[in-house]
This record gives sequence, structure tokens and C-alpha cells, in this order.
Amino acid sequence: MAFPDGFGWGAATAAYQVEGGWDADGKGPSVWDTFTHQGGERVFKNQTGDVACGSYTLWEEDLKCIKQLGLTHYRFSLSWSRLLPDGTTGFINQKGVDYYNKIIDDLLENGIKPIVTLFHFDLPQALEDKGGWLSETIIESFDKYAQFCFRTFGDRVKLWITLNEPNMFALMAYDLGRFPPGVPHLGTGGYQAAHNLIKAHARSWHSYDSLFRKEQKGLVSLSFFIAWAEPADPNSASDQEAAKRVMAFHLDLFAKPIFTDGDYPEGVKSQIAAMSTKQGYASSRLPEFTEEEKKMIKGTGDFFAVQYYTTCLARLKENKKGELGALYDAEVEISTDPSWVNLDWVYVVPWGIRKILKYVKETYNNPAIYITENGFPHSDLTSLDDTQRWEYFRQIFQELLKGIQLDEVNLKVYCAWSLLDNFEWTQGYSSRFGFFHVDFEDPARPRVPYSSAKEYAKVIRNNGLEGQK
Ligand code: NOJ
Repeated sequence: MAFPDGFGWGAATAAYQVEGGWDADGKGPSVWDTFTHQGGERVFKNQTGDVACGSYTLWEEDLKCIKQLGLTHYRFSLSWSRLLPDGTTGFINQKGVDYYNKIIDDLLENGIKPIVTLFHFDLPQALEDKGGWLSETIIESFDKYAQFCFRTFGDRVKLWITLNEPNMFALMAYDLGRFPPGVPHLGTGGYQAAHNLIKAHARSWHSYDSLFRKEQKGLVSLSFFIAWAEPADPNSASDQEAAKRVMAFHLDLFAKPIFTDGDYPEGVKSQIAAMSTKQGYASSRLPEFTEEEKKMIKGTGDFFAVQYYTTCLARLKENKKGELGALYDAEVEISTDPSWVNLDWVYVVPWGIRKILKYVKETYNNPAIYITENGFPHSDLTSLDDTQRWEYFRQIFQELLKGIQLDEVNLKVYCAWSLLDNFEWTQGYSSRFGFFHVDFEDPARPRVPYSSAKEYAKVIRNNGLEGQK
């Protein structure tokens, strides 16, 4: 029941979800500041991340939680507009630099490795005003920001995630418009953003590779939201095809260019092209990479970062009316099994993670895999006893062990989402994923461990499930 020696145990957070201090000490506004301040019930009860967990002033409290768990890794994100208020290196906010320097130094002093995300959904508003991720100019802006971060923090940070869940983000922010800037571009915006996200990631990877790697010796990659797709009927060839398509559209569309050959999957390209023709578009809604871009994109991930929450069942469903939206292009209908426990949008399917690890191993040539997020929302917001939730984590760990021992996947690190209860995007504070409860009514934002915190600490101490030490 033991994990390999040196296995990494972490927990994750993200700047907008925990920091607060939204305009403190010269921080510029991000799109989430704008979006939440506009109201309009797009976020649960119009809640905001203005204060959130208060981590901007309460970092020391977070560190106590981290030490209590005994984490070997802590994953957090940098707020771009805290460092560069208008998104450009024209003005650098030293107070922001100081804040992250302190986090990094404190972690290292305690023997904890930082995993740092450069972009976790909170684009500086000034860059959104120039078109955000729909505009090609973002590639240059992101690359400059990334270089600034590598230069400033890279002497100590050795694990970088450029983009958090670009696949989920492109869909939510620019196709469906449910995340800021809040404007839907059904069927086009998601792909256009994806195109720029992939190129921005690749550019920054090359910057690291050519300017910093030799001296800093770190690793740079990006993390994907991956829901496992299972055929609705495992014996049906058409359902098997449906499940493959789901993986291709939501994962491989992003991962194949970066980890395989610089280009989108053929099936996805032809499917979107055919649908676009049917809808009267002169060309495919999915943009094309030039040959030069393909060369630039290929091979720009130093490890494969997986974020797993849920599984679905897939079956083919023809988009007869030619409805617009990235979700319709795959011509697949998604469902769930009635036996799966459902918590918000999460269906508890621990075996899904093993299938994903195997899929990644087989599809992407046995890469080093980091699980940079996995977790479950609490079902009872009134209790600190989350024994049932811990049982789901335990089942996940069993599946990881099977993946490592039976499927021989090269899994290096596991990070749970999340260290703290925090601002869960459009669900505000109504959905809680923390090992530590945070009282958002109390100005002191006290952190109190759920019962699972003690259990996780035990797993980390033993480097595995019960039976050791
Ligand atoms: C993935 C996102 O990266 C994170 O920000 C979010 O809170 C969790 N999933 C849970 O939904």
C-alpha cells in the first residue's frame, strides 16, 4: 500500500480564489474583479473574491495549514495583475514580487517544493480590454510575463505550470461566456482562444528552454482538466467511438499539439470542418497552425499534468440541426450512471483516474505524470466531520496505487484540491473543496481542519495507505 520513495504529496490553491486584497498595494484589476463587481447574478449571490481567504495578508496561516498536513509540495498561482498591474512589464509592482518571494522562501525553508502556476483564469483587465485570449497579441504579453516570472522566481521555483486547465478555460470564458469576460462566442470563441493559449504556452516554454533552463534546471508544462469518458454501453462500437471523441475534443485537442506533433487531432479537425461547412461557414471554425507554428508547439511539455474530478458516459448523437457550440461539434451525448454519488457537478468515480493515467501513458508515450488537482466538494457545509469525503480520497489513492503498480504509469506527484475552502468561481463560497474550513463571515478568516486533514497528514507521513509506521 506504499507509494514509491520520493513520491510528492501536495495541495493546491489559486490566487483569485484565496488571496483577496484585490486592490491592495498597487494590484491592478483582473477580469474576475471586473466580472464579480458587475453583479448580475452570474456568480452565486453575487459573491466576490475581494477578500476570499485573505491569503494576501494571512499567508502565515496558510503556511501553518501546509505544515500541519506535512505537504512535500504546495501548488499556488501568481496573480498576473498583482505583479504587473496593467499586464505589461512597463510597470512592476514590487509589493507583489515581495509577497510571492515570501511564500516561495517560506516554503523552501520548510522543505516544501513550490509548484507555481502562471495563469489560473485571472487575466489582467487591461489585457482583456485588448481582446484577451481571443487576440493574438496575448501570446507576446504572456511570454513577457512568463519570462519576468522565470527571471524573478526561477532561481527557487523548479516546477512551473504555465496555464491552468486551458481546455476548460477556453470553453467557459470564450465559448460559453460563463466566465469573464462573460460574452459567449458559441462554436468559435473556444477554438480561437485555444489556438492562442496553445501558442502562448509553447512560446513561454521556448523562452524557458533557451534563456533559463540551463541555469535554473526546472520543468515547465501546463495542466489539463480531464474527465474520463466511458462508453455508455461498453460493448457498443458506436459508444466506444463516442467516448474516444470526448477524449479527443476535450483533451487531445490541446495535448496532442503540445505532446505529440504540433497539430490538432485529425478526427477533431475533420469533424469541426464538416460541421462548419454544414453551418455555412467558408472555412473551419477551428483555426489551423502553420508548419512553422507546429514545429514551435511540438514537444513543449516537460511533464503531463492531470486534473481529475469526474467521469461521464458517452454515446453518439447527431447534431442534426447544426447547433453551434464546441459542445455540439463532437456529436456526443453525455450522461452519468445513477449509481454514482453526485456532489455538485462532480460524480464520484475513483476508477476514472486510473483509466486517465493509463490513457495518458499510452497516448502520450509514457510521460512523467503530475496530478496537479483532484478533489471533492463537501456535501455538508455545517460539519467539520468529512469522513465520507475522506473515503473518496482513499479510493482515489487505491486507484493511483493500481496505476503505479499494475499499469506502471510514471506518476510523480499528487496534489489535492484544495488546501482551503475558497472562492469556487461562479459558485462563490457555496461549494467547498478544502482540507481546512474557512469562515467567510469572520473578518479573521480562521482556518479549521476538517477531519480529512488529519487523515491526509497520515497518508503523507506513511507515504501510503494504512499499514506502515
Ligand atoms: C479546477 C480549477 O483549476 C480550480 O480553480 C477549481 O476550483 C477546481 N477545479 C474545482 O472546481
